[in-house]
Amino acid sequence: MALLNVNIDHVATIRQARRADEPDPVWAAVQCELAGANGITVHLRKDRRHICDRDVRVLKETVACKFNLEMGMDAEMVKIAEQIRPDQVTLVPENRAELTTEGGLDCVGQLKRLDEVVTRMHKKGIRVSTFIIADEKQILASAETGCDAVELHTGQYANATTDAQIERRLNELRDGRDIALAAGLVVHAGHGLTYRNIKPVARIENLGEFNIGHSIIARAVLVGMRQAVEEMNKLIAHPF
Ligand code: PXP
Repeated sequence: MALLNVNIDHVATIRQARRADEPDPVWAAVQCELAGANGITVHLRKDRRHICDRDVRVLKETVACKFNLEMGMDAEMVKIAEQIRPDQVTLVPENRAELTTEGGLDCVGQLKRLDEVVTRMHKKGIRVSTFIIADEKQILASAETGCDAVELHTGQYANATTDAQIERRLNELRDGRDIALAAGLVVHAGHGLTYRNIKPVARIENLGEFNIGHSIIARAVLVGMRQAVEEMNKLIAHPF
């Protein structure tokens, strides 16, 4: 069974909507861990639109399970990772205007930079995973540069609408897994996974971990709504 890393970026998105101090992603990380999450994932973006530097620092001190930092490969982020030393970095492409990470990292096109980043991360004892589409060239480039793992992009699977499309995307993920395992890589998967579409992916054998964010945070808002309203109503009803 694959392990579950919960991506808590969108707890910080709610906080940043008001530039307030709640909800604190650090508190959310504790709740995830108590509920059985195997890892906590955050994406420190260049524009700091949700997770900020303080979150990464405090999470590093408080997360007891695996701490996975998603980031681009630019100089600033590499420096931060060296200072923070998460258990793992997942290298992602980053585009300022995007709503969420679009497409996979071009490991082939950025082979030299990837090689440098992997070397620097390994010097600090940080494992490296690349977020890529399930393409043989990208997988082999990740292996060639010494990455420990690849995270196969499940976005196209998540967006598939017909049975044939879904099966095609699952086959791509299975083929990618086989190539990656043969190259000695650990295989992760993530992006766009939900309560509705997780099962077929969870049936793929030998996947190490899933990174799931939006769907879990969205569910948490709704399953917690009744209690939140009840608690506020109690305070209003008993103000003294
Ligand atoms: N994996 C990676 C590399 C991501 O960039 C993201 C989104 O931040 C996720 C997984 C989680 O995607 P989602 O929020 O759609 O579950």
